This record gives sequence, C-alpha cells and structure tokens, in this order.
Amino acid sequence: MKALILSGGHGTRLRPLTYSQQKQLIPVANKPVLFYTIEDVIEAGIRDIGIIVGPNKEQVIETVRSVDWDADIEFIYQGEPKGLAHAILVAEEFLDDEEFVMYLGDNILKDGIVDHASKFRELNPDALILLTEVDEPQRFGVAELDEKGRVKRLIEKPKVPPSNYALVGVYFFKPVIIEACKNIKPSWRNELEITDAIQWLIDNGYRVEASIVTGWWKDTGKPEDILEANRLVLDDIKPKNEGRVENSRIMGRVVIEEGAMVRDSVVKGPCVIGRNSQIVNAYIGPYTSIGNNCVIEGTEIEDSVIIDGSVIKNAGRIVESLIGRNVRIVEADSKPKGCRFVVGDNSNIVL
Ligand code: G1P
Repeated sequence: MKALILSGGHGTRLRPLTYSQQKQLIPVANKPVLFYTIEDVIEAGIRDIGIIVGPNKEQVIETVRSVDWDADIEFIYQGEPKGLAHAILVAEEFLDDEEFVMYLGDNILKDGIVDHASKFRELNPDALILLTEVDEPQRFGVAELDEKGRVKRLIEKPKVPPSNYALVGVYFFKPVIIEACKNIKPSWRNELEITDAIQWLIDNGYRVEASIVTGWWKDTGKPEDILEANRLVLDDIKPKNEGRVENSRIMGRVVIEEGAMVRDSVVKGPCVIGRNSQIVNAYIGPYTSIGNNCVIEGTEIEDSVIIDGSVIKNAGRIVESLIGRNVRIVEADSKPKGCRFVVGDNSNIVL
C-alpha cells in the first residue's frame, strides 16, 4: 500500500501565519502537524509515501528532508489547490494503480491509523472512510448512515447536516477512486471534492465501508484548533529535562529541550520549552508550547503556542494565544506610553 499525504493549499483560515508558513508546518507541541501524519503512515507499515505540495513547496520539502525518515518520500506538485480529488489526479502516476491511504497533512489523530489500515485489508472494500462524531458537522464532510451503519450518502459542509458523523481526513482507496475523481464536477467552492468522488463510488455500486475513530481527532484548520490540538498532544507528553533550571519551580509534566534555560521562574505542565529558549522571571502555565530560540521574560503565558524565535518581555499575562515566528511583544521603554503595533494582515488582537 502507498500513502498520499496532502500538504498544499493556502490555509486562509490560519492567516496571518499562513502568509509566510505552510499550514501543515505549524507546530503542535513543537512538532509540525505534518510530522504526526508521516509518523502515523510509517507506523502502519507504509514505506512508499507521496507528499502533495503547493504554494510553499520548498519550505515543506526542506522541513520534511531535515528528518531521516524510515520511508521513501516523493514530492508531487499541485499547481493550484483545486481540491482533494484533484490532488489524487495529480498523483496518478505516483499511485501507479495501487491501493493507498490518503491522509490530510493538517489532521491529527490520537491513535494513528494502524487499526483502520487493518480494517481496510480485512474488509477489502473499494473505499474505507473514517468517521467521528463532532459538535459542528457543518464544518466538515458529513456521512449519512443507514440502520446497519452502512454509508448511504456523503455531503460536503452541509447547511443542515444529516448526522453528527464528520469525515476525518484519512481515506483508504482502491485504484478505482481515480476513475471516480475523473467523473465528478467542481463543487460550489470550485474544488473537486473527495466527498463527491466517494459518493460517485456509492452511486456506481462500489463498496464503501466506514471505520469509527474513537480517540480524539483534530483538523487544525483554524487558530483555536491549533490550540486544542496542542492541549490534546501535551496531555500525553512524557517529562524530560535536557536544559538548565536555576532557582525555579517545575511542576507536573514538563519537557525542557536541549540548550533551554529556565531561571527564577515557575513552570507548570503539561508544557514544552523548545531548544535554546530562555525563560526568565516568568510563569509558563499548563498547555503551553514555547518553540525554539524564544525569550520569555517577566511575563505569564498559559494555554498558548509560541512559535520559534519570538521575544516576549514584561508583557503581562498572555492566554489562549497563537504567536508566530520571530514576533516581539515587549514593554514600551519610551514615551508616549501605550500599545504600539506593527501587525500583519488578518491578525487578531484581543486586549
Ligand atoms: C476536508 C474535506 C472534508 C473533511 C475535512 C477533514 O475539508 O473536504 O470532507 O471533513 O477535510 O479535515 P477542508 O479542510 O478542505 O475544508
């Protein structure tokens, strides 16, 4: 079996971060979301991986190549983000008439895909889709099931959802899906929807089975999803200290990575402090990930994701925040007093 991982698209709902960064590379607990996907695929015994790349292709290729994966990874360029079914068509040559799992690179699943891959091999259907119950099904593809739990109908982002079963971004396919993708029309959002391609399989008598995801699942499409994914992943971290701690209180499960320094501070887990970061006279509270090379001084931060290279000094108390790379939030040292902003398009500040 092969794997097709999607790491393209514009990530508009994650602006401004996605102006400069491909959304699948945004870190959760200091690891790009895309890496969780690659790890899950390798854990399921798949060694032949194609990654679909789009607008920031160099960034994705460089980041993936910075790790020595136990797999053959090939990159496939999708010129325009024209939908998930379009991505399959772009990858037709790579897929080479073999069965495959398609995994969206912005999805994280607590329990990976090993059990679902076994189910696909065991039931041997034309497609196996993963479903899970959610509170806001209208944000996703939604499945309507019959009394026996078989998939009857799939609808992309329905205004009136027929059930609470959302389509998780992991799909197992036989090669016939390519024919399905060639036979559908673009949707209202002008994309070739994978949901429509799977519906085509159902309508043409092919067998589509469902597998229910029981552990948590997160599609990291919006800032609050990144924070939630960060909480869920941090809930499972194992503490370790490879840095230096001076005159500080470390409570709960805390990861302090190599070269990091914590001085005169209180750190309450679960949280991660990245490589070469400095935490001085600060409070780092639960569910916080501080990236690499950050400086946090005289500030309290809780329930937040701070990405690499950011400097935050005497900034009061920061909660539920997602802060990008190389951001400076510092106390004013000259008059007039007041907040001074140089903020990118589509930023969001709540004072
Ligand atoms: C895509 C699919 C949708 C699925 C979701 C899962 O949505 O179209 O059916 O539920 O991924 O992450 P998109 O992220 O393109 O809005």
